[in-house]
Amino acid sequence: MPTILKIQGGVSLKGTIEISGAKNSALPLMVACLLTDKPLTLTNVPNLADIRTITQVLEVLGVTAEVNGSTRTLNAASITSTTAPYDLVKTMRASVLVLGPLVARYGLAKVSLPGGCALGARAVDVHLEGLRAMGAICELEEGYIVAKAPNGLHGASFTMRVVSVGATENLMLAASIAKGQTILRNAAREPEIIDLANCLNAMGANVQGAGTDTITIEGVPSLHGATHKVMPDRLETGSYAIASLITGGDVTLTNTSLEYLPMVRETLEKAGAVFEEQADGFRVYQSGPVHGVDVMTEPYPGFATDLQAPFMALMGICEGASMITETIFENRFMHVPELARMGMNIQVHGASAMVRGVKNLSGAPVMATDIRGGVGLVVAALAAKGETTISRLYHLDRGYENLEAKLQACGATVERLKVDA
Ligand code: EPZ
Repeated sequence: MPTILKIQGGVSLKGTIEISGAKNSALPLMVACLLTDKPLTLTNVPNLADIRTITQVLEVLGVTAEVNGSTRTLNAASITSTTAPYDLVKTMRASVLVLGPLVARYGLAKVSLPGGCALGARAVDVHLEGLRAMGAICELEEGYIVAKAPNGLHGASFTMRVVSVGATENLMLAASIAKGQTILRNAAREPEIIDLANCLNAMGANVQGAGTDTITIEGVPSLHGATHKVMPDRLETGSYAIASLITGGDVTLTNTSLEYLPMVRETLEKAGAVFEEQADGFRVYQSGPVHGVDVMTEPYPGFATDLQAPFMALMGICEGASMITETIFENRFMHVPELARMGMNIQVHGASAMVRGVKNLSGAPVMATDIRGGVGLVVAALAAKGETTISRLYHLDRGYENLEAKLQACGATVERLKVDA
């Protein structure tokens, strides 16, 4: 039976929300287990659909996974397959991250080519170009990427044509046990890349420069086990900070840090937010009415594409107007028609959306279109008059752990209901 979220808007959020571990860090960290035959223990792993999917992908390969609350111990001592099947990869594109480690360690990997994606084409060509530079032969066979390196991978100097988070991670994973030195130029600089480098180094790898656009990896013959804590989810953090602002609330976010959100913080401050840093997080509220600020999404440290939808919701009910330009994905305005159903005034022109703030929103039945589009609707619903129902919750469940409990703890009227299909 499908579930929906029912939100009665108009309550100012007040209270504390504990931020979970980062989905987008946990995924590559879990894949790193493929590089060693010793156990890798990760703590602060969020309980999310995407985490269950990557666990299934790893289990298909022969990895054993022990779950104890938010701690997962993964053991790739007995790999039985090097094929990541279509059924799993099609539900989550990040599954392609197993390609690099498998070909590096076993000389063979067969990973379904991820199909179409709601956000745009999302090619994996840069992943393959990098692996080819390291000596892999990559071909497409019956919908699968088949990568072979019977003599192992060697280090390479590789400049990425586009800044890609996933390609940077895939190549870092592979290079950590390749022969010799790899230099990745035009690398992604996201905090999740630093988290992966820290974990790999704890496993005995030699990765330097993560967090800058040039990452140097000295390959080592083998890696060992380690215990590593997943970093806080900066996208969940930003989403709840925006939820606090849009409701005129006063929320403290713990187990997180503003250091991961430099441009988001700056933008929200320009819009009227006040941030007070605390030892284990921060408090966020508005200094007066929120007003329009223009934004362009960019690779880190720029404004995260993953916060574009909730930010748009905030701009939709503020004083003034905001031009929001999406430069990362070609199709990331799917939430716009849903926000319009709640009374927002948004005109899309190519890669830009002109958002003219309105005074009031009204609750409406709407549909989540992707993880972050979905949270954009939640944020808007919290500020709307009346009741909003959000369907297609499976999108939200991919990226937000205990969403309704976290909002309820701050006074929101939100419940999950089972409905007839
Ligand atoms: C990661 O996706 C995140 N996912 C995404 O979060 C996030 O939106 C994205 O980075 C951008 O920040 C995970 O970390 C699991 P990219 P990824 O490769 O790695 C193009 C969420 O909601 N490109 O950096 O797949 C691509 O088409 C998700 O949590 C190529 O052209 O993103 C896109 O336009 C959604 N060729 C741009 O680069 C390639 O080989 C950035 O994509 C690879 C990418």
